[in-house]
Amino acid sequence: MLMLWLWTWRLIMSLSSSGGCGFPHVAAAAAVPVPLASSAAAEGEDEDEAEADPPIPRPWPHQFHSILFVNFTGSLSLIDLWYDWPNGRNFNIIRDQLQDSDSILYDLEWNNGTSFFYTLPDHHHPSSTPPSCRSAQLDVGILRPNWLDGASYLGQRHVDGFLCNVWEKLDFIWYYEDVVTKRPVHWLFYTGRSIHVMTFEVGAVLEDAKWQAPVYCFEEVEEETDTRVSTYVHKNWKMLG
Ligand SMILES: *[C@@H]1O[C@H](CO)[C@@H](O)[C@H](O)[C@H]1NC(C)=O
Ligand SMILES: *[C@@H]1O[C@H](CO)[C@@H](O)[C@H](O)[C@H]1NC(C)=O
Repeated sequence: MLMLWLWTWRLIMSLSSSGGCGFPHVAAAAAVPVPLASSAAAEGEDEDEAEADPPIPRPWPHQFHSILFVNFTGSLSLIDLWYDWPNGRNFNIIRDQLQDSDSILYDLEWNNGTSFFYTLPDHHHPSSTPPSCRSAQLDVGILRPNWLDGASYLGQRHVDGFLCNVWEKLDFIWYYEDVVTKRPVHWLFYTGRSIHVMTFEVGAVLEDAKWQAPVYCFEEVEEETDTRVSTYVHKNWKMLG
């Protein structure tokens, strides 16, 4: 479970280094959408429009907070995403539906490749599962603001009630951005993990104290590297580089 998150996010990072080819083909998940027809042609836009360069995704703001609604084959969760590029850190605080607070997963990633995955004690239910922490060290840092560079434009589609431009990157992610405001609305991983952006607060920064991993992350000097993930990311990183 912990490493699944690592897997998803760190893979995007390895993809973001260039728009080149090289992502190994993965068995298509049922939820992957069929490529969109050229909506410009279908809707009869004028020729100037049709011949213009395709739109490109807006780079992520250097700091923002977002609440994400996640649906993974029917299992629902909420993520607080704190993206903080200038400070080289990214935080996913993941709550599964109707679970106790001691099962909230904190996925704290640093740009030096260190990630901490931990839970915190639930002070209201002190007898519940003891808190735990795992760390991992990878070759790549956090997502860069321009990680969507090189994505292929697929056209426009309505999603969640918003008219969106849609891009696909390396059969890995489908990304939907509001045509008018340029805010991300939705993205979908090839695994079927479906993300809906509920809030998008540009410039919001989580206070420094909240970025401190708990002491038990440092007590057991257990620098764990998931060799499967590391090898995979490394391989792609090299191919793209
Ligand atoms: C979650 O996704 C499944 C398909 O995987 C869908 O059937 C279901 O309606 C979705 N649930 C919500 C709350 O969006
Ligand atoms: C990366 O940075 C974090 C936060 O400052 C730190 O806890 C961690 O030890 C660093 N990792 C390495 C490999 O230096």
